[in-house]
Amino acid sequence: MGSIGGGTGSPRIDKGLDDVYVMESRICFVDGVKGRLLYYGYDIRDLSDHSTFEETAYLLWHGKLPNRDQLAAFSAELAANRPIPKGIVSLLKGLPKETAPIDALRTAVSALAGYDPELNGQSREANLRKAMRIAAKVPTIVGAFHRIRNGQRVVKPNPKYGTATDYMRMLTGKKPDKKTARILDVALILHADHSMNAGTFAATVAASTLPDLYSTIVAAIATLKGPLHGGANETAIRALLAIESPEVAEEYVLKTLAAGQKVFGFGHRVYKTWDPRALILQDVAKKLSGKTGHEKLFMVAKAVEEAMVREVGPKGIYPNVDYWAGVVYYMLGLAPDLFPATFAVARITGWVAHVLEYWGDNRIMRPLDWYVGPKEAVYVPIDQRS
Ligand SMILES: CC(C)(COP(=O)(O)OP(=O)(O)OC[C@H]1O[C@@H](n2cnc3c(N)ncnc32)[C@H](O)[C@@H]1OP(=O)(O)O)[C@@H](O)C(=O)NCCC(=O)NCCS
Repeated sequence: MGSIGGGTGSPRIDKGLDDVYVMESRICFVDGVKGRLLYYGYDIRDLSDHSTFEETAYLLWHGKLPNRDQLAAFSAELAANRPIPKGIVSLLKGLPKETAPIDALRTAVSALAGYDPELNGQSREANLRKAMRIAAKVPTIVGAFHRIRNGQRVVKPNPKYGTATDYMRMLTGKKPDKKTARILDVALILHADHSMNAGTFAATVAASTLPDLYSTIVAAIATLKGPLHGGANETAIRALLAIESPEVAEEYVLKTLAAGQKVFGFGHRVYKTWDPRALILQDVAKKLSGKTGHEKLFMVAKAVEEAMVREVGPKGIYPNVDYWAGVVYYMLGLAPDLFPATFAVARITGWVAHVLEYWGDNRIMRPLDWYVGPKEAVYVPIDQRS
């Protein structure tokens, strides 16, 4: 039985919840020892080779791969839901230009709740419809805000295109070529889910009090933002861009470690070996570097990786998805502060999948803290306090 704390003895406190399982799940398996990642049993390598973001989203929400008709209907519904209400565009226009895209996204998703006619519908079907609306609108919001802050005309979504193509279009105003769109599509697949990570846990905690789906996604976006989580891609690329050449990369690593600081984009709570997503994205970055003239960035990133793996690999610290995703996004021309929001474009699918699974057998999350403060404090009237 739980304790209110402060008694005798010492409880087992799991700061960071390393070894705590909060539920059974069928969605995502992360093998941190072998470096494997599965969505509903499908290996991430197979999905990144053969699937699309839309198909992967269907898999995460329905637990099985769609047939051709199901995928066509799903993709069409997602595309049809991409337009955002005028009120949301006005809201984005009212934000300070300095607002980070991930903050603009969090604010806009929160505001979107008021536009949803089914906001409080609690059936799985209603929630899937809401999920479709939110997931479809997230890339539109990020694209619109990015253009607004740069004083550019907002580009409306085009239902002819898949998420990756349309997201790039709405950011840049130009339809990307097929290869570029496919690279982003693969990145979205790789980021779609990752079991009970901090953002998904935040969504689950929010979900456990039975609010609406929008509230759970807002909690998740807020949590994703931090540099220890989905903000690591931005922090990592900024560090890499500040390194002058591959020759000084090792020195940067040694100095950072000697100062007791972290090299962002490395380390993971679950993976103690190579993150399979990082390996896939590293190959992509290598190919892209020549085509985009970013050879130096690739060589700097590789040199940092080599020094890190040599220095801290034996402690189980390897590059994670954010490290190479940041490099790839940069080579695709995305501004660094768009990286966390781009992560959210993909991860919304995983958040929804986990929230709906949790709602299948809901219990409010209510852990304990061990009270170590005073117990006999005497209330002194304000005039008598020193
Ligand atoms: C991901 C992360 C938060 C996991 O944290 P965690 O499981 O709590 O692990 P800790 O932060 O306690 O790290 C354990 C040890 O590895 C070291 N370590 C972990 N990540 C490191 C990094 N990126 N650079 C240098 N050292 C690192 C810690 O300093 C600590 O060393 P110590 O035991 O000598 O004190 C952590 O690795 C990190 O902060 N990485 C950088 C941010 C990042 O890339 N996040 C994206 C994750 S996908």
